[in-house]
Amino acid sequence: MDKLLVHGGAPLKGAINISGSKNASLPILAATILTGEDCLISRVPDVSDTNYMVQILSALGADVERYSGTVRISCADVAEEAPYDLVRRMRASICVMGPLLARKRRAVVSLPGGCIIGDRPVDLHLRGLEALGAKVEFEGGNMILTAPDGLRGAEIDLRGTHGPTVLGTDNVMMAATLAEGVTVIESAAAEPEVVDLANFLNAMGAKITGAGTTRIEIEGVSELHGVRHTVIPDRIEAGTFMAAAALAGEGVTLRRVCQEHLKAITAALVRAGHRIEFNPAGDTCSVHRGDEPKGCDLTTAPYPGYPTDMQAQMTALLATTPGISVIKDTIFPQRFMHCAELKRMGADITVDNGTAVVRGVAGLSAAPVMASDLRASAALVLAALTAKGTTAINRLYHIDRGYEHIDEKLLMLGANLERVKA
Ligand code: EPZ
Repeated sequence: MDKLLVHGGAPLKGAINISGSKNASLPILAATILTGEDCLISRVPDVSDTNYMVQILSALGADVERYSGTVRISCADVAEEAPYDLVRRMRASICVMGPLLARKRRAVVSLPGGCIIGDRPVDLHLRGLEALGAKVEFEGGNMILTAPDGLRGAEIDLRGTHGPTVLGTDNVMMAATLAEGVTVIESAAAEPEVVDLANFLNAMGAKITGAGTTRIEIEGVSELHGVRHTVIPDRIEAGTFMAAAALAGEGVTLRRVCQEHLKAITAALVRAGHRIEFNPAGDTCSVHRGDEPKGCDLTTAPYPGYPTDMQAQMTALLATTPGISVIKDTIFPQRFMHCAELKRMGADITVDNGTAVVRGVAGLSAAPVMASDLRASAALVLAALTAKGTTAINRLYHIDRGYEHIDEKLLMLGANLERVKA
């Protein structure tokens, strides 16, 4: 098990490339189940979550080849049952359910277990697939979905207590591509990753309109074909490096970003007193730490609101920003595990009922800390960049789930850190 030693105090300077989006890649990889033809997908980040998805597809019978960011997948024939040992490692495995059901008319996927960022039910996924005509049964920890006569289009409202569901929208959208008739998803998730999946499916021959809005319409087709696709840039990786640059930077440039997808993150950093500039094409941005950073309030919300996946990293930045910041996570109100670890480094944070009140302190000091989930780990790395001394971040496998070579990218920017065996 690796850990990261971060020797705080080295300023970040220079330029790096942002990788393809992990959260767009995962459902797109799963969507290849919908066709027996070859799909070629580029800019798939080399992170353990995409590796798990590739392993699940291989275990289902797909023929998969992977060369530095490009994955070729052929699902000429696939089994209906996703293996528990692989599925249990990653909640996003659940997005093979819609494609398997549509292609095989039967899907067996184990119920996801607990998750550190909060209770993450799958009721909305199942509600949507049932509306398309699937019968849902539970047996031995598995969800067994069957639709022996095929799926039928339907009108479905996917709104839950905490707003729309990203992977739920993906699952229903994928299943509906091969259903008979028209499906309308109301209260759909509008995240750029959903749009990327819809673009992938449309290139395969699907008929989807409205992706990127809260109403998606899918006209079912009888079959889909192979396709080439390039995954969108990872807006959360970009946001994480933007926050790192605001915290510890002396002029950092990020290439291969998408300005449109970064509006809420950019606005938050500007409110906190930092300067962000994009080139006219909107695919490169430079981040300059402000001379007078100030605390700001943040509330997470579905896209185009401020992303929950950038809450922890911004908390780390605000921990050493003068003033009081109030941070509310409406999507995952329990997603504040990083705060306890940041407090061990000297941060002044009170968490209550889905809200963190952060009183900016002059500086943090190094301590051994424990990564608890992907974004919490990123927050600890950020905090360590300016902390006094050497911070040891344990359980690094969390960060390797979703950040491609984060230690190498930070080294290229001048950070002083090393990955060691724990
Ligand atoms: C996606 O998870 C992302 N994962 C998450 O990113 C992200 O935090 C989340 O969307 C919210 O933006 C991937 O794309 C692989 P949801 P997802 O269903 O789709 C509730 C990261 O760090 N809900 O949109 O699983 C749920 O509990 C990760 O990269 C139900 O109530 O999240 C939450 O409160 C972690 N019933 C809210 O909806 C359901 O059936 C939104 O969750 C499904 C969800």
